[in-house]
Amino acid sequence: MIYLDNGATSLRKPGSVSQAMLRAMQTCANPGRGGYPSAMAAADAVYACREQAAALFDCQPEQVVFTANCTHGLNIAIRTLVKPGDTVLISGFEHNAVTRPLHLLDAKIVVAGRRLFDWDDTLEAFERGLRSGVDAAVFTHVSNVFGYILPAARMAELCRKHGVPFILDAAQSAGTLNVKLGELGADYIAMPGHKGLLGPQGTGLLLCGGKPVPLLAGGTGSESRSQAMPDFLPDRLEAGTLNVPGIAGLSAGLAYIRRVGTDAIFRREQEAAALCIPALRRQGYRVFAGAHQSATVSILPDMDCEAAAQALAAQGVAVRAGLHCAPLAHESAGTLETGTVRISFGHDASARQVQLLLRALRRGNIR
Ligand code: ALA
Repeated sequence: MIYLDNGATSLRKPGSVSQAMLRAMQTCANPGRGGYPSAMAAADAVYACREQAAALFDCQPEQVVFTANCTHGLNIAIRTLVKPGDTVLISGFEHNAVTRPLHLLDAKIVVAGRRLFDWDDTLEAFERGLRSGVDAAVFTHVSNVFGYILPAARMAELCRKHGVPFILDAAQSAGTLNVKLGELGADYIAMPGHKGLLGPQGTGLLLCGGKPVPLLAGGTGSESRSQAMPDFLPDRLEAGTLNVPGIAGLSAGLAYIRRVGTDAIFRREQEAAALCIPALRRQGYRVFAGAHQSATVSILPDMDCEAAAQALAAQGVAVRAGLHCAPLAHESAGTLETGTVRISFGHDASARQVQLLLRALRRGNIR
């Protein structure tokens, strides 16, 4: 199968990821719950992952909190910064993982910047929104539907200038783009472990620049006499037994990325996208691509998008069609009624994948 659904999850992981998970399952007890060797082995494995993440994302290991996925981290961060009824500024390309928690809080949502691949529009609208007086901002680094790389560093700078706390959703950028907690001055950065970081599903990271409000309360192995959650990170947010095999796998994924380098991964993905986009246009599709484009590309065929994805699956190519849990992004691009077919390359992107995709589109008679 030609796997081009890395926006949903990365499927082809380095072998070291599953090996580390198996080793953890065979050797790790509960971290922080005992001083015997298997509990200490677990604590070491967990700390090693925190260190890997801290080195990649420019923060202290204690600022790295393990979550179940990116949505989990976003919920913690949003619950911390947003009070019921607050006004929150978001980009026009947010995922339901951002908008649904805001709706749950009955937040007033200000949407800034609807034009794809247009940094001037994004920045002007964003600064206008900040000037209008908002309580917090949440924005994605890369659109999960269209691969638009937003000017995150400059949006962060604007938030700092206007004194507005902010959350970055790095779901589609961690492992490929520069994501630095210290440099951005973000209050929180949420990311999945199972996409660009090449870890297993059921893992995620929340990088904390501030003092978060816990979403869950429970045992942490620390300050057990107190009925309040510990005041310090990461314990404050890590109630209950951690996903140690998952964290060990994520650690191996992070080690692989640090070894290969995010720049090299980005270049490889860009080469595939640069080959793919004009070829798709030559084959007659409407292709959503422009400046500041990641290796996630949406196309709009004449036929129904779900049917097109099914036809591609029958030809051995995996892509995702529909609204991609991001109706706001589709509304911004004018594709809310049709959805799109999304092709998303990963760290193993190649010219061969592009050729096989193009051949499958032709053979599947996808128009
Ligand atoms: N949010 C993921 C995607 O874009 C699952 O497919």
